[in-house]
Amino acid sequence: MKRNLLPLILLGLTTLPVSAQPTAPAASPCPDGNLIAALAAPGDRAKGETAYRTCRGCHKADGGGRTDGIYPQLAGQHASVLVKQVLDVRAGRRDSHKMDPFIEEDTVPGGQITHIATYLSCLPTPTENGKGSGRDLARGKTLYQRDCASCHGDQGEGDAARFYPVVAGQHYAYLRRESVESRDLGRRNANAEMVKVIKPYSDQDIDAVSDYMSRLVAPAKSHCK
Ligand code: HEC
Ligand code: HEC
Repeated sequence: MKRNLLPLILLGLTTLPVSAQPTAPAASPCPDGNLIAALAAPGDRAKGETAYRTCRGCHKADGGGRTDGIYPQLAGQHASVLVKQVLDVRAGRRDSHKMDPFIEEDTVPGGQITHIATYLSCLPTPTENGKGSGRDLARGKTLYQRDCASCHGDQGEGDAARFYPVVAGQHYAYLRRESVESRDLGRRNANAEMVKVIKPYSDQDIDAVSDYMSRLVAPAKSHCK
């Protein structure tokens, strides 16, 4: 049965973020994310490293993706976010035609996605990422702290339990593209609250804030020793 894990996953998706409102407990320890618990398979970094072979042609051996942002950096991203995004693409809630054939259930079963995500989440974020021009960083900082830090964190560290992505050290061009897609409603799984804050942004605002995010450095995850 191709999508036998899906009901379980959807249960996780529909119930957990709602329960993860401000009163919810802090992010759970590694393997992080309630979604992973919902997958009922403990993430194994060694198995993940092997299974990641399917992905490295695009996302690169160190999980760094490409500095031009065509392929996002996955190293250091929360496992919960990685699993959610793969499942969103698989379920048609987010588009990535290039990636589609590589993440099919037949190619990478649900448990393997969990292993891969656990492995990637503990890889160091390469600092040689793609950055912007550096011309408008003060404005980027003001916008980020006012509108984005409440979810993505002061240092761009995101929040594993709430499925808020790490944005620190991600490639500028990718951050820019996803921000524009979210603003213009092209990314269907975009967060509704985020769409509200980013809606009035000009392209220049998005450039500035993306450049700022690309230069943030997230603190190391304590569970990844
Ligand atoms: C043929 C190239 C290709 C392969 C192979 C590939 N991906 Fe991707 N992946 C992409 C592209 C392109 C995107 C960006 C989609 C977009 O622009 O929205 C992406 C995005 C992602 C994202 C979303 C990242 C984020 O920050 O939201 C995750 C997670 C991901 N890929 C995981 C995987 C995993 C796991 C594998 C292997 C099982 C894999 N990918 C294989 C091309 C690929
Ligand atoms: C209410 C919380 C919230 C706020 C505020 C918010 N975001 Fe997000 N953001 C999210 C969530 C949740 C996602 C992932 C959505 C999903 O599941 O696909 C996301 C995804 C993103 C992504 C894509 C990351 C990736 O790895 O694919 C970018 C870029 C981004 N946000 C930028 C911003 C910027 C810039 C701001 C401020 C202008 C902002 N966000 C404000 C919650 C938020």
